[in-house]
Amino acid sequence: MKSADFDYVRNYVRTQAAIVIEPGKEYLVESRLTTLARKENIASIDRLVELLRAKPGSDLHRRVIDAMTTNETSFFRDLHPFEALKKTILPELVQKRRPERQLNFWCGAASTGQESYSVLMTIAENFPEIFQWNFNFIATDLSTDVLAQAQSGRYGQLEVNRGLPAPLLVKYFKRNGDAWEFDPILRKKVVFKELNLMSNWPFMPAMDVVFLRNVLIYFDVETKKQILGKIRRLLRPGGYLFLGGAETTLNLDDSFERVVLERTTCYRSPGV
Ligand SMILES: C[S@@+](CC[C@H](N)C(=O)[O-])C[C@H]1O[C@@H](n2cnc3c(N)ncnc32)[C@H](O)[C@@H]1O
Repeated sequence: MKSADFDYVRNYVRTQAAIVIEPGKEYLVESRLTTLARKENIASIDRLVELLRAKPGSDLHRRVIDAMTTNETSFFRDLHPFEALKKTILPELVQKRRPERQLNFWCGAASTGQESYSVLMTIAENFPEIFQWNFNFIATDLSTDVLAQAQSGRYGQLEVNRGLPAPLLVKYFKRNGDAWEFDPILRKKVVFKELNLMSNWPFMPAMDVVFLRNVLIYFDVETKKQILGKIRRLLRPGGYLFLGGAETTLNLDDSFERVVLERTTCYRSPGV
């Protein structure tokens, strides 16, 4: 790939999605764009970048961003955050919010939906009463491709083999041809929406729990600080933020309280 084309793509992805692609990652851009060019019937990466340059703001630009996102996820990824939710955070929040009967959740880099559905199954298994409350669950991602799958609630055998305990598969999924379909009643409790974390966020209710896992790693320090500041303002006092295992608020936004719960760490917003 020509170095000017590599720079064009990495600058575009950085300004639009905040995703940092370091010099030396030409192989990554090449492999993702080769797949995209094939899908779009474009003869080569050179031609693809030529088309991008010729038509700023085209739909092809959106597809390049989609292609450059890493959507790796699985059910109950890292397990321990979901254990903490079940054993500590949900019991605490259910007790605290019982008088007003309201709880709000947001999954901010939802990818293909496994994380949101894992949270929902954790609630359904342990505190189903909160579905009778004013319960809001918003799940967002930048990539429309992954959101389409998330919304469908359909997963292949390999996807359900990753992290989903067999009893939960049997209880919450139905086989339909090659796919496993997530329980439609529970599925409708999540509202999936497109949202670029870099943009101005539209109105969202104040949140009790935010999952923003395995996405800050792609951003530079300034962007991480900005996003954490916005989450702090969105969380209700005493609300919780879950980040990925390689992510932290330390030295980025030290007003969060670091809470270690057995084998996981989460972050509590200031106040009670
Ligand atoms: C590695 S996945 C993480 C999925 C899930 N949270 C997990 O931990 O399993 C990262 C997701 O972040 C999304 N993403 C990347 N940049 C984003 C941005 N600027 N705004 C919103 N989502 C973004 C990608 O599309 C991708 O689906």
